[in-house]
Amino acid sequence: MIAIDLDGRTALVTGSTQGIGEAIAKALAAAGARVGVNGRSPEKTDEAVVRLSATGGAYFAAPGDLATEEGAAAVAEAAPEVDVLVNNLGIFGAQPALEITDDDWRRYWEVNVLSAVRLIRTYLPGMTGRGWGRVLNIASDSAVVIPEEMIHYGTSKTALLAVSRGFAKAAAGTGVTVNSVIAGPTHTGGVEDFVYQLVDEDLPWDEAQREFMRLHRPQSLLHRLIEPEEIANLVAYLSSPLASATTGAAVRVDGGYVDSIIP
Ligand SMILES: NC(=O)c1ccc[n+]([C@@H]2O[C@H](COP(=O)([O-])OP(=O)(O)OC[C@H]3O[C@@H](n4cnc5c(N)ncnc54)[C@H](OP(=O)(O)O)[C@@H]3O)[C@@H](O)[C@H]2O)c1
Repeated sequence: MIAIDLDGRTALVTGSTQGIGEAIAKALAAAGARVGVNGRSPEKTDEAVVRLSATGGAYFAAPGDLATEEGAAAVAEAAPEVDVLVNNLGIFGAQPALEITDDDWRRYWEVNVLSAVRLIRTYLPGMTGRGWGRVLNIASDSAVVIPEEMIHYGTSKTALLAVSRGFAKAAAGTGVTVNSVIAGPTHTGGVEDFVYQLVDEDLPWDEAQREFMRLHRPQSLLHRLIEPEEIANLVAYLSSPLASATTGAAVRVDGGYVDSIIP
């Protein structure tokens, strides 16, 4: 039997009070890690810790707004030593290409890219010093297939692929791996409302999402949205000692959305 074993490791998953981040936190805890849960507010983060703890596993709160240096410092104080860093936090939203302002561009850079870079700078030296560590940056199909209505988002995710590749080189030969995960269209909170805005609202969910994928995401080979747990499964594997030879890579869990043979 192949087992994903993170017993004795400490993980930090950014943006894990809901959605994909929460599913990743759950998967890492199920593998035995003690998992730091992060969101902007202490209240919402504590609520998530309570909700997750009720399902089993060891969690602690590491709140802080990672778009700011102060927030990153607060998170580092709550989680001083981390073996598995999952930079999951990311914001997205549609905006006409010519109406993305300088402020919007800066905000996407701060939240989606610099948040990850700051934490890598914080934790990589400890990981390399101990001779083991995992850094995973959650990117998106939009990193490769830049959507016209989300150029700022896609660009920030493309940057994360470069960040991962570069820091993997900085960690070369140390036992620490750095990778990105290219997630595809996923069934997270809010997505159901979004789907029902675009297809017949009387359809049951399974049919509605298939119709949505057929009409609006035809590139997907899965013909359905990905469940957050399916992203978390890949992250758990890449976080584990089993994935020791995968570094500097962009690994896809996108339902075949990106029409490419590699990566
Ligand atoms: N959903 C998809 O279809 C999809 C597809 C491909 C890739 N992705 C990527 O997957 C990741 C997670 O997406 P999701 O849909 O699960 O996101 P989500 O449901 O919007 O959750 C975002 C999380 O980030 C936290 N957050 C937001 N701003 C923050 C900040 N400045 N500092 C710290 N935490 C912050 C939120 O917590 P609080 O509200 O408590 O602060 C929340 O826990 C993102 O990187 C996204 O780009 C998503």
